[in-house]
Amino acid sequence: MDKITALAKRRGFFYPGSELYGGVANTYDYGPVGAELLRNVRNLWWDTFVHKRDDIVGLDASMISHQEIWKASGHVSGFADAMIDCKNCKLRMRADHLIEGYWDVNKEKFQAQHFDTADGIQQDKFDTFVKTGKVEGYDTKEMASIIKLLHIPCPNCAKSDWTDVRKFNLLFPVNLGIVEGDQSLAYLRGETAQGMFVNFKNVLASTRVKLPFGIAQLGKSFRNEITPGNAVFRTLEFEQGEIEYFFDPDETNWEELFENWKKLMWEFVTKGLGVKGANLRWREHSDEERSFYSKRTEDLEYQFPFGFKELWGLAYRTDYDLMQHQKFSKKDLQYTDPVTNKKFIPHVIEPAVGINRLFLMVLADSYVEDGERVVLKLRPQLAPFTAAVFPLLANKEELVAKARDIYTALGKEFRVAWDDRGNIGKRYLYQDEIGTPWCVTVDFQTLEDDTVTIRDRDTMKQERIKTSEIPAFLRQKN
Ligand code: GAP
Repeated sequence: MDKITALAKRRGFFYPGSELYGGVANTYDYGPVGAELLRNVRNLWWDTFVHKRDDIVGLDASMISHQEIWKASGHVSGFADAMIDCKNCKLRMRADHLIEGYWDVNKEKFQAQHFDTADGIQQDKFDTFVKTGKVEGYDTKEMASIIKLLHIPCPNCAKSDWTDVRKFNLLFPVNLGIVEGDQSLAYLRGETAQGMFVNFKNVLASTRVKLPFGIAQLGKSFRNEITPGNAVFRTLEFEQGEIEYFFDPDETNWEELFENWKKLMWEFVTKGLGVKGANLRWREHSDEERSFYSKRTEDLEYQFPFGFKELWGLAYRTDYDLMQHQKFSKKDLQYTDPVTNKKFIPHVIEPAVGINRLFLMVLADSYVEDGERVVLKLRPQLAPFTAAVFPLLANKEELVAKARDIYTALGKEFRVAWDDRGNIGKRYLYQDEIGTPWCVTVDFQTLEDDTVTIRDRDTMKQERIKTSEIPAFLRQKN
């Protein structure tokens, strides 16, 4: 992870947010190549799930939203994490991260031990934790008991002197206008999903959709997270790609639909983003972990340098959200079947991914050390630049002019980088580190026979081709 964050800073994938003023923890700014990579991941997601499907439509809802939306969704009362502070060194952590992280590393040592769980946690709950290593759905008392029973030390100072476990809400409140108070209170959205539910009727009324169909959205969400600092994995502000796929449970078998979405998600990650299947796995949520309204939740997990972690969640949310909004807004959110006139609230399956997590996964999965060089073996479709164009020497006007012509012509179809600084070797190494698949060099021979060298990032092999053949070469290999 340190190597990836170092590369990110060195080459401009991402930088710590507000760094000039000492930083704001868990925020990041994406640099020139990071912005391109992020955009390519985002565009591929939109292209795959919106443009290439006739049953999914897009949406771009406001990030500032009415407080009632978040009351109806359950976020105001229930969207909270449990935190704990070390009394000695003042480290603040999420209690679940503390427990699960400690258990992961130390579970063998407790294998044969029996724990008397009378205090704060039932034996069966504790046994479930020992079996799964997870505490999602556990209350603050139960977590505090586990920390006490295992005598978990602070990962920073090694003392075991903790405060109580306390809940804190993740939503960011904003006050609209100049008067503070409950009337002007709104929230920055904690997920994009609610935008789809509150616009369900608008989309029905303004488009030609009929069940089953999906509404998809890409956009920023905000959560006041305490995180252990795995770069852009978990941040305060992040981008989600979510689809609410609505269906009639009497007509569509939800289990088949669920399996189909699992296939599509897997394909997007392995084929679309070119990630190795060996680094992926599915994990089903246990009953304790799953939200009460969800009939099934599975996470597609990626093996990040800090372990297998959630990348993409898939949940069968039933009719819970639309029902809640119907109740809170007192508006009819039913769907009317155009053939039978049956009126009902559709059910929904939701694939929800973090674009920044896809981005981090792609960086981690493509990072290769090849002798002295660091190479990002990105799929050409994702690379910030498809090709780079160099004049062999920056002070030879004829070479620069010819290279400029090629750069401009290629730029009409491809994302192309220009570099005339330093020697050719350094330019290659720079392009390898930002994942540029091909480098085109204009040399003296180009001026004689209109050929260039084209160098492959992965094999480092060079071949000579006619300048007129470059677009076909890039197209065919892209
Ligand atoms: N609508 C359901 C929902 O929001 P979630 O599991 O809380 O579910 C979906 O979030 C996805 O959003 C996660 O799988 C993850 O990829 C991403 N995500 C969630 N919180 C994040 C954070 N703080 N930073 C970056 N990505 C995050």
